[in-house]
Amino acid sequence: MKIKGKTKICMVIGDPIEQSLSPQMHNAGYEALQIDDQYVYVACRVNSSDIENFIKGVRSMNIRGISCTMPHKIGVMPYLDEIDDIAKKIGAVNTIVNEHNKLIGYNTDWQGILTPLEKITNLENKTVGLIGAGGAARAVAYAVTSKKAKLTIYNRTLEKAEELAQEFDGVAYSINEITTIQSADIIINTTSVGLHNKNEVLVPKEYITKNQIVFDIVYGAETQLLKDAKEQGAQTIAGIEMLLHQGAAQFKLYTEHDAPIEAMRKVLE
Ligand code: ATR
Repeated sequence: MKIKGKTKICMVIGDPIEQSLSPQMHNAGYEALQIDDQYVYVACRVNSSDIENFIKGVRSMNIRGISCTMPHKIGVMPYLDEIDDIAKKIGAVNTIVNEHNKLIGYNTDWQGILTPLEKITNLENKTVGLIGAGGAARAVAYAVTSKKAKLTIYNRTLEKAEELAQEFDGVAYSINEITTIQSADIIINTTSVGLHNKNEVLVPKEYITKNQIVFDIVYGAETQLLKDAKEQGAQTIAGIEMLLHQGAAQFKLYTEHDAPIEAMRKVLE
């Protein structure tokens, strides 16, 4: 135990939060860089109705960094001093940095999408079939269109897909038209389908082709979508990669050190 009087606190907040892997991931990074006397990372369950008080506590305790997960990514925004332009465009904050009691909101989810994708492909002019139109989908839409990919959005509630498509210059489809996703270069699932029931899928296996890249941001056990994609010969990216790379970007914001990716990946695996 290296915690001292000068150790700075970082934390993840959510409700529920006990399932979060962020404490292991960030603390493994601190250890690998031997800065675990300077930083410690914990998890706190915070109720949505307590967010304003929580932020007052952050200021009074001089907490260095806050990672926000469900359901707080939008709720924290009114209480911050500044929100960076990308987080504004995405409409959500997953990272708060306390710079001498000035609280600045960022979003690193888009980096969690882009970094693993760009390792295996160039996105310019590629077609991305995005499934879902919620908060996570907004980060994907920002990420891929920032690299000039073309966006097609499939959602159960068509109006939400249409709104997102309008904002990010994409095309909207109802989930009932999912078969057209076979012409996309990249498929990204952002819906919770596959989270609770790992066997549930929205894309029938026969519509996945070997030339596609399939990214399921749901993490935990391998989802049926990723199993099907592998069987069809497609390249796959698991949700853990998003968790890792959004966390690595947070790590840099909190500590100003480049994240030791492999040490952080090891603890997640
Ligand atoms: P997040 O912030 O994690 O993206 P969200 O905003 O609640 O969560 O969005 C969840 C997404 O999953 C939505 O696109 C939702 O579709 P609706 O807009 O129609 O609600 C989608 N989703 C959730 N359960 C689904 C299901 N059983 N079938 C299809 N889509 C589902």
